[in-house]
Amino acid sequence: TWTIENYIDMEVDKLRETVGDRKVLCALSGGVDSSVVAALIHKAIGDQLTCIFVDHGLLRKNEADDVMKVFADDFHMNIIKVDASERFLSKLENVDDPELKRKIIGNEFIYVFDDEAAKLRDIDFLAQGTLYTDVIESGTETAQTIKSHHNVGGLPEDMQFELIEPLNTLFKDEVRELGTQLGIPDRIVWRQPFPGPGLAIRVLGAITEEKLSIVRESDAILREEIANAGLDRDIWQYFTVLPDIRSVGVMGDARTYDYTIGIRAVTSIDGMTSDWARIPWDVLEKISTRIVNDVEHINRVVYDITSKPPATIEWE
Ligand code: XMP
Repeated sequence: TWTIENYIDMEVDKLRETVGDRKVLCALSGGVDSSVVAALIHKAIGDQLTCIFVDHGLLRKNEADDVMKVFADDFHMNIIKVDASERFLSKLENVDDPELKRKIIGNEFIYVFDDEAAKLRDIDFLAQGTLYTDVIESGTETAQTIKSHHNVGGLPEDMQFELIEPLNTLFKDEVRELGTQLGIPDRIVWRQPFPGPGLAIRVLGAITEEKLSIVRESDAILREEIANAGLDRDIWQYFTVLPDIRSVGVMGDARTYDYTIGIRAVTSIDGMTSDWARIPWDVLEKISTRIVNDVEHINRVVYDITSKPPATIEWE
């Protein structure tokens, strides 16, 4: 009978046989798929695995530190963390077009990964967290591209590595089970989807450090309150966005003229369609109060009540 335990034993044997005494490289993003792939391969071959984790400066609050804590400190994996935020942010300066942002980030990711991989010696294999659904989807062309969906996991095509894709027969729920079995903490195994371009597509228009920080801080408050309310597994995705508008408010006796934060929270099965989440009013009230009080330059909070279609989940 098929069980996750059997699957792990089988895959570990298979990986050891394939890899032998050679070396494997893996791009770790902190997402579910790349985390599970890294943990599985690490279980099989230990230090023969090296991971590259690119911090593009567009991650959520504490995300980079948390990924390093889990996989470098607790799992003792070989991880090269690349702090590339200056590189990415300078390339994105004054860029306000969403598709151009995606393209720049996707390309830059490949350059950074390439640079790091080139420093390593004797790598034979590249591991990727391709799932069964990815295998099926890549066989079909969609008629029209709504968003290019650059995934930061996209890697150079001319690399001289043999691909290893140990998750390519599994569905998402099986991957989560596998992750739990391998000892990956729930906050990663059950992590909500997070787009490759990260916060870059949640600051609408041109990105600045200040705007990134506003989105990062408000998003951290939202996530904390959604978790406190016990809603984090019911809602498919929940995040804040910073539209490029300011409006008038009043604080004490003084007039303010500051930014608005949008809250997006949706229920969905697969991200293709979605409905806005019916978050209880009192939870929304708490989120709004905390964001206005704790995040500088925010004097208004709005809740996005559009489904997909006609809106998309992300605002860009
Ligand atoms: P939309 O906004 O198109 O999003 O309704 C559907 C799902 O895809 C995610 N998304 C992306 N993921 N790179 C990614 O890796 C991207 O450029 C990208 N754009 C959207 C979005 O978060 C949602 O889960």
